[in-house]
Amino acid sequence: MTVGKLRQLFCHAQVATMTDNSLGLIADGAVVVEDHIIRWVGAMDALPDHWQPSASDLEVIDCQGALLTPGLVDCHTHLVWGGDRADEFQQRLHGASYAAIAAAGGGILATVRATRAASEDALFEAAKLRVEALIAQGVTCVEIKSGYGLSEADELKQLRVARRLGTEFPIRVKTTLLAAHALPPEYKNDADGYIDHICQVILPAAANAQLADAVDVFCEEIGFTPAQTERVFQAAQALNLPVKLHAEQLSDQGGGALVAKYQGLSADHLEYLSQASIDAMAQAGTVAVLLPGAFYFLRETKLPPIAQLRAAGVPIAIATDANPGSSPIIHLPLMAHMGCTLFQLTPEEAWLGITRHGAQALGLQDTGMIVEGMRADLALWDMQTPATLCYEFGVNRLIGRWFAG
Ligand code: NIG
Ligand code: FE
Repeated sequence: MTVGKLRQLFCHAQVATMTDNSLGLIADGAVVVEDHIIRWVGAMDALPDHWQPSASDLEVIDCQGALLTPGLVDCHTHLVWGGDRADEFQQRLHGASYAAIAAAGGGILATVRATRAASEDALFEAAKLRVEALIAQGVTCVEIKSGYGLSEADELKQLRVARRLGTEFPIRVKTTLLAAHALPPEYKNDADGYIDHICQVILPAAANAQLADAVDVFCEEIGFTPAQTERVFQAAQALNLPVKLHAEQLSDQGGGALVAKYQGLSADHLEYLSQASIDAMAQAGTVAVLLPGAFYFLRETKLPPIAQLRAAGVPIAIATDANPGSSPIIHLPLMAHMGCTLFQLTPEEAWLGITRHGAQALGLQDTGMIVEGMRADLALWDMQTPATLCYEFGVNRLIGRWFAG
């Protein structure tokens, strides 16, 4: 027996490895984990002798035919915020548009006021509930953006809360600086001045404190122009930080092509994405992150160009976009369901979207698949077939979750 080594054998599982751009199903499979890392994956009848269930140093988890998948990855959230925007929800139901509310000083800026006013502990307590919900759904990795601070102190405050969530909960947190989310009141009518401030002050401060794993911009008519976006990307690149983009949510700004030009990890939203951007993303390996929760909640009618993304071979991820304005929905399996019902993704695409491709959108190569050498981020489901997660909604069939073993 190897003292101090944690060894686990998951046996008799239907294993969805997420390899070969399919679910990579193994009908009666086994997974061996040693020291938090996946060491062996295969069919039960090929399991090497020294890992048979009778081996004395193994913790054996008999899955009894249940479905074993990678832990889920929610690759786009704004999970840390103050207040809520239920009032704007009501205004929208009385006819006001999301863009009109934003133009009148509400929208993102309403949440900025509430987030600035909240203490770090209060932000943590509010976000904790959301993280706990994701954990209960089988999520083992979540991206959290800033973007409701819009000042050096308040952006860093949000990012510190995000990091703390990752240390206090069994979930991996990847942080993204989204200082270019909206124009703060201090820079009213001076967007270029605010972009200077981001490039010269906020971004270097976040990088210096190691609080940002990536950098994002809201490139939109009600956000920042492509030229301003590019300046932030250049500053990020100079600090060796990868970029992503809120692109083509409300109009085509050529954002997909722009983020691809900077070898961006992902372009997200994409309802108004052009063929030229799709081609550029395919070339650069930029992931298309679809956010059906925002599409649904804003009652968008223009569908992202799924068939063209598919034809071009662009990897498609799905995320919650959890935020108080456009997607107050803290439920990743529901996004897989909506990816199928609203966007007509196949269940296979939806599963890849919340595992392998979600990890890819975060630049992670050690999670999102069940492959030797990867972290043992695993989820076990009481399901006969993977399609059940996409088909049904409202029953939590998660029966086990392992965060790095
Ligand atoms: O991803 N599009 C910009 N940002 C968020 C919405 C933020 C908000 O309304 O508070 C989004 O949809
Ligand atoms: Fe977003």
